[in-house]
Amino acid sequence: MSVRSSSQSMLLPFLILHFAVAATLAPDVVAQFEGDITLNCLFPSQPGMNLQRLTLTWQKEQAGAEALVLHSYYYGKEQLERQDQIYRNRTQLDPEGLARGNASLTLRGVRIQDEGIYLCHITSEQGKISVRRQVAVMAPYSEVRLEVSVSSQVTLTCRAEGGYPEASVLWLDGARNNVTAESDTSLQRDLSGLCDVSSRILLARTGYGNYTCILESPRQPRVVRHLSVSCSSDNCTNNLCLPITLPLMVLLGILGIPWCLLRRRFSWCLAASEL
Ligand SMILES: *[C@@H]1O[C@H](CO)[C@@H](O)[C@H](O)[C@H]1NC(C)=O
Ligand SMILES: *[C@@H]1O[C@H](CO)[C@@H](O)[C@H](O)[C@H]1NC(C)=O
Ligand SMILES: *[C@@H]1O[C@H](CO)[C@@H](O)[C@H](O)[C@H]1NC(C)=O
Ligand SMILES: *[C@@H]1O[C@H](CO)[C@@H](O)[C@H](O)[C@H]1NC(C)=O
Repeated sequence: MSVRSSSQSMLLPFLILHFAVAATLAPDVVAQFEGDITLNCLFPSQPGMNLQRLTLTWQKEQAGAEALVLHSYYYGKEQLERQDQIYRNRTQLDPEGLARGNASLTLRGVRIQDEGIYLCHITSEQGKISVRRQVAVMAPYSEVRLEVSVSSQVTLTCRAEGGYPEASVLWLDGARNNVTAESDTSLQRDLSGLCDVSSRILLARTGYGNYTCILESPRQPRVVRHLSVSCSSDNCTNNLCLPITLPLMVLLGILGIPWCLLRRRFSWCLAASEL
């Protein structure tokens, strides 16, 4: 008699929750590239809950394909046979947390491909619940450099490496006009998915003066670099530089000093200075 009434009282909330499958929309989790993140997943629990009857699956959604399995728990223990190999050794669940209704999963060594939507599915004596987590990844760009180079034209190049997401480069002239349309920006992705960005602008048409490049990427602070090209256009031709730099290059060549090491120092040929 008492056994029957206790099983009934357990069955009732189960039935109610079973039909009220919860989908929680969480704010974005921003993970640092190569860092660790915890994907939170809390569910209703009861003291002395039977973990043998709890099923947990952490999955990652894939467009047009079956979801990837990150981690599972059933029959009272962690089950990793169906874990996708890209998550091998990278997931961590606290089995003791499960008894307290905490199925949060830690993912280590975050990669760019880890961006996306994660689902935590739980079936327990308390019912069924699904929690959704959206993960974004961020990698800070290396120091942004604004450099000047001279050939037949004067070129300003603004570059930064190893960041994520893709960055855009905005150019302003001395009067703070947007001259981005005159620039040429290229992005390259390396094997791990990180981006290198390089944007150049030719000064021949726009003339000399003050220039600003602004690197912007979502989820990281914008970086602003200024450069002043303050010489007159006559002095800025390569012709003036050559009589000075050519003998120097020959001398450096004899001494075995790489030209590129010193090249930056000689941008005074252009009378350009970083503000
Ligand atoms: C996972 O870790 C174990 C032990 O630390 C190691 O032997 C195995 O090679 C690792 N697997 C992968 C895919 O990194
Ligand atoms: C749930 O567990 C995770 C780690 O497994 C922990 O970081 C988090 O604080 C826990 N949350 C609660 C509400 O206990
Ligand atoms: C600057 O100009 C570029 C290209 O013309 C445009 O895409 C961008 O939205 C402009 N940005 C601002 C802040 O005006
Ligand atoms: C460039 O900026 C400096 C410092 O703000 C200013 O003194 C100079 O007049 C500017 N030059 C031009 C060509 O706008």
